[in-house]
Amino acid sequence: MTDLDAVLGNAGPTGLKERIAAELEAVRARSLTYTDADDDVLVRQHSPLMSPLVWDLAHVGNYEELWVLREVGGIEPLRPEIDDLYDAFKYPRKDRPSLPLLGPAEARKYISGVRGRVLDVLDLADLTDPDPLRSGGYVFGLVLQHEHQHDETMLATLQLSRRPGLVRDGALPQGRPAGDSEVHIPAGVFTMGTDTVAWAYDNERPAHRLYLPGYWIDRHPVTNAAYMEFVEDGGYRDPRWWLPQGREWAERNGVEAPLFWTRDGDTWWRVRFGREEPVPPDEPVQHVSWYEADAYARWAGKRLPTEAEWEKACGGRGYPWGDADPGPGQANLGHRAARPAPVGAYPDGASPYGVEQLIGDVWEWTDSWFQPYPGYRCFPYEEYSKVFFGETYRVLRGGSWATHPSAVRTTFRNWDYPIRRQIFAGFRCARSEE
Ligand SMILES: [Fe+2]
Repeated sequence: MTDLDAVLGNAGPTGLKERIAAELEAVRARSLTYTDADDDVLVRQHSPLMSPLVWDLAHVGNYEELWVLREVGGIEPLRPEIDDLYDAFKYPRKDRPSLPLLGPAEARKYISGVRGRVLDVLDLADLTDPDPLRSGGYVFGLVLQHEHQHDETMLATLQLSRRPGLVRDGALPQGRPAGDSEVHIPAGVFTMGTDTVAWAYDNERPAHRLYLPGYWIDRHPVTNAAYMEFVEDGGYRDPRWWLPQGREWAERNGVEAPLFWTRDGDTWWRVRFGREEPVPPDEPVQHVSWYEADAYARWAGKRLPTEAEWEKACGGRGYPWGDADPGPGQANLGHRAARPAPVGAYPDGASPYGVEQLIGDVWEWTDSWFQPYPGYRCFPYEEYSKVFFGETYRVLRGGSWATHPSAVRTTFRNWDYPIRRQIFAGFRCARSEE
């Protein structure tokens, strides 16, 4: 359950503590799975875009120490000398391998020492305390979501490493014929953002009313098959479809297809966690940058949706299907398999408007810059959202197959540079009413 007010009402603070403890255990098991590899794999930098995996591992523990142990628990620093090394703002990712980082064994020991004390703090915590970090267990939600976000980052690193055998795959539901490919959303006012989701970040708040003219939005994310048509049509070389900065970026970097794709004769292949396979036509395209998504949309005679249009298409509840926690029949989340599901695989996850696969599968690029909502208040620290606001980052919505259900919802906002494509991101298109 994402709405912890409901949890508090149903089960009382004791039930909430049990749930937090179980979620903390689950996310740690996940992090340890992704770092269950030879030391060489963990300390190496697989891409200048990413930290060594061993950095992510100790960083989640250090973040937990800062927020739960020091800030809320009032506990003295365990290893103050390592704080700088794991401060995400101190050293860029490309410089992290040359830092005197904790080795894999030491990192595991450090984070498990922190975790033991975190469970003690949880045990003693008064979750009805009105202090915003304590109320409803906010600080625990903060560290839980943070660790899941780093787990997704670790999956992106493992994908970039191109090494086979490091990441589990699994089964997903079948796709189904798409039906009408676009859905009409009538003009009107809707509520964007939230005041009530207990673990929501500052950038999702406050809830505010917004009028949108009527528009059309794709029922599903854009598929590999559809994207291939753009590629085959010479879409990458036609300046009509590209913003000048996007064209320049694609040319300079020799970008002619999604990351991890190669062509062999008439067949497109992709590398997925170290294995080569034909690109499956019915899956949402992933590993495209915002510039590529934007160019495709123009080629298709459409545009990317704004994040408001994306959120309105969800239908105004915690998730497109309602307020119940995501289940395996509603969305492809939490790394059930190491890929997006084919379009049409989740009819039960549709929004009231009939828009599908908004949550899970691929993060969806939107046309919007990452900006604060009207009435935004920074909490609990500027480096979560505030320092990123402006016209530098584009907003992504909905989570991917690699996102944990506890770390995504209708109102959740992600953001990245428009050139990034190592993330598990795709898109869907929209268009205005004639
Ligand atoms: Fe972090």
